[in-house]
Amino acid sequence: MKKVSFSIKTFGCQMNERDSEIMGQLLAERGYVESMDMNDADVVIVNTCSIRAKAEQKAMSLLGALRKVKKKRPGMRICVAGCVAQQEGLELCERMPHVDLVLGTQNLYALADLLTSLDGTPKLAINLSDSYEIPAFIPTLAALPHSSADHIEQAPAPAARPFRKFLTIMQGCNNYCTYCVVPYTRGREVSRKVTDILDEAHALVDAGICEITLLGQNVNSYGRTNPVTADGGRYTFSQLLRDVAAIPGLQRLRFTTSNPQDLSSELMRCFGEIAILCPQFHLPVQSGSNAVLSRMNRRYTRELYLQQVQELRSVRPDIALSTDVIVGFPGESDADFEQTMELLEEVRFHSSFSFKYSDRPGTRSTGFADKVDELVKSERLSRFQHRQDEICLEQNLLYLGKSLPVMIEKQSEEGMVGRTESNHIVHIAESLACVPGDIVRVTIHHAGHHSLNGRLIPPQQKGAA
Ligand code: SAH
Ligand code: SF4
Ligand code: F3S
Repeated sequence: MKKVSFSIKTFGCQMNERDSEIMGQLLAERGYVESMDMNDADVVIVNTCSIRAKAEQKAMSLLGALRKVKKKRPGMRICVAGCVAQQEGLELCERMPHVDLVLGTQNLYALADLLTSLDGTPKLAINLSDSYEIPAFIPTLAALPHSSADHIEQAPAPAARPFRKFLTIMQGCNNYCTYCVVPYTRGREVSRKVTDILDEAHALVDAGICEITLLGQNVNSYGRTNPVTADGGRYTFSQLLRDVAAIPGLQRLRFTTSNPQDLSSELMRCFGEIAILCPQFHLPVQSGSNAVLSRMNRRYTRELYLQQVQELRSVRPDIALSTDVIVGFPGESDADFEQTMELLEEVRFHSSFSFKYSDRPGTRSTGFADKVDELVKSERLSRFQHRQDEICLEQNLLYLGKSLPVMIEKQSEEGMVGRTESNHIVHIAESLACVPGDIVRVTIHHAGHHSLNGRLIPPQQKGAA
């Protein structure tokens, strides 16, 4: 009998990427096979993101394109998952009658059962419960899908040997930053049990994974909202980092994301104490103005943020800091924005993600007065990004002449590509018999805005540079 094929397209954050992997594994375990071509798949899953208006539009336009595909192949089943699915629910079914299943963020694990129950009428599974528990889940790398294509026309790239993986440690968020949909689309903050996380991490390492990134919207508050150990005792994110780092065979550990309001000295010290914790930290600041931070309901000040940067750099001088910034938050004046620019000068982030503020359904800031003009937002964004680009290069130039360990990601005709511990991409114009995940030493001989170039140091010369 012909096997049922599926294809998943993912938008949004790393948590969504991980969720897509989980859905792919759940389907593979039920005998579905992954299709290289979304237009040809029996089941298409669009895993959506709602964080900014643009992210939602992208998912909507893909769904629009799929309407035409389904006209030609009425047997095709379309599932919308992720944050737009959770947020739009019934409305999505009404606006998009070609959608068969709307799968909410807490209904992920029911995907395979729900698909078998489809009978041509749209189904909704978008319950968001306060007592949700993330199920135990053991990844089997053999069943993991290929990464999804950017456009419906493109086939996914052939999967390379997986060597690094995301591991979700918590879901949801209780912070209610006034601009953010996450507390509404992912529900209240739930931490996974320590044993489930460690079992998953062990399974990954046993399967040959060398690098793990722990994921949560606010990892610093891991274990605060529900018990994560059998005895219900205190267990912090820092302890989790130590326990994961102790797994023999794991070579690199990262995590994301952190809200500065919950960043403890205990966690900062981990950068000096845990050998495999990479010196790289994404600490979203959002704005350099205390007035704006307060209206965003970000419960820290510019001063506290700068103090944290100083502390992190004193613990780990080579730490590469990155951030998120929103420009044009309602009421952001020229002077407020200048404070963000000044903060950029002061911290000199290795990289940043910056966005124009957009109203999101259900968020408090949608109702705020003094919306900033689109043109002003665009000007501010390009000023910020232009200066950040210059700083990226200035920071990257500091790596010139340094000898660094680089984890190989892939081989190409031009040589090899890998990453430093600080998460910089390094191009190496030489080849070596190695597999993704192997670590080589290189000397950096060129720095660009967004990547470095290195030369291999022959193994016998290790430590000479
Ligand atoms: N949990 C993380 C952020 C996750 S969302 C934290 O607390 O920092 C990723 C980024 O999207 C945010 O840091 C913010 O910069 C941006 N973002 C969120 N909502 C937005 C909105 N309504 N408009 C523009 N950018 C937004
Ligand atoms: Fe959104 Fe704030 Fe939660 Fe981050 S901490 S997910 S920005 S509500
Ligand atoms: Fe987007 Fe939801 Fe992640 S809104 S950023 S997919 S948590």
